[in-house]
Amino acid sequence: MLKPPLKWAGGKRWLVSHLKPIWEANAHRRYVEPFCGGLAVALGLQPEQALLNDVNPHLINFYRQVQNGLRIRVQMRNDEELFYRHRERFNRLIRTGKAQTGEGPQLFYYLNRTCFNGLCRFNKGGDFNVPFGTYKVINYVRDFSDYVAVFRQWTFSNEDVESLQLEAEDFVYADPPYDVEFTTYSAGGFSWDDQVRTARLLARHPGPVVISNQATERIIELYEGLGFELRYLDAPRRISCTGDRTAAREVLAIKP
Ligand SMILES: C[S@@+](CC[C@H](N)C(=O)[O-])C[C@H]1O[C@@H](n2cnc3c(N)ncnc32)[C@H](O)[C@@H]1O
Repeated sequence: MLKPPLKWAGGKRWLVSHLKPIWEANAHRRYVEPFCGGLAVALGLQPEQALLNDVNPHLINFYRQVQNGLRIRVQMRNDEELFYRHRERFNRLIRTGKAQTGEGPQLFYYLNRTCFNGLCRFNKGGDFNVPFGTYKVINYVRDFSDYVAVFRQWTFSNEDVESLQLEAEDFVYADPPYDVEFTTYSAGGFSWDDQVRTARLLARHPGPVVISNQATERIIELYEGLGFELRYLDAPRRISCTGDRTAAREVLAIKP
């Protein structure tokens, strides 16, 4: 099985074995992930046809470049000085609207693998501002040709979840950013209102839906109120979207 090419907060590789039996009963359908992030689940389930969406434009651009045979030609070393030089260059490309082609996706890959916890964060001015990471060894990939055959049948899109064009028969697996209890606006910019509009949207979808989230009280109430069947799981210690590493109780909300 191919490993996710990027490091991404909230990776759900550990959920694949729980999702597999549900997916296998639906494997004739198109697989849709509105919050695809690091692709841990899509690469684990390997659907033939998929629509993979994320609101992060650099992430989706990187996957599209991989589909087109991306090769990394910029220097890559786990070196602090090189990291900050590449970060500055990437931010210059963002400011001039050139981060999506040529060096842009190559620098994005390097920064993702080298920065602290693979976080992807921008300041108010739009600059990528994650500091240098703390890895001993990084195995950089320069050639993504192993991914080309798998990605060939997949479509990547860069929309807000609500703009996604779902078809009635689609199987949807949604992994929104974790609900952070007691806040209206979570650190990742995904607010409580976003949780509610996502849950309502997916409850209306006529095809099968699975949603994973942190099992907070209000999430349980929201999903239950919309008629989902709930299953609880213990999440391993992991990096949340805010970078903290506390263990979480996970809920799977299922609509057959
Ligand atoms: C928890 S992560 C998904 C992790 C993924 N399941 C994996 O295994 O790597 C949530 C993702 O939702 C994306 N996101 C946040 N707000 C969004 C929105 N309004 N519409 C679509 N995607 C959004 C973030 O960019 C992030 O990649």
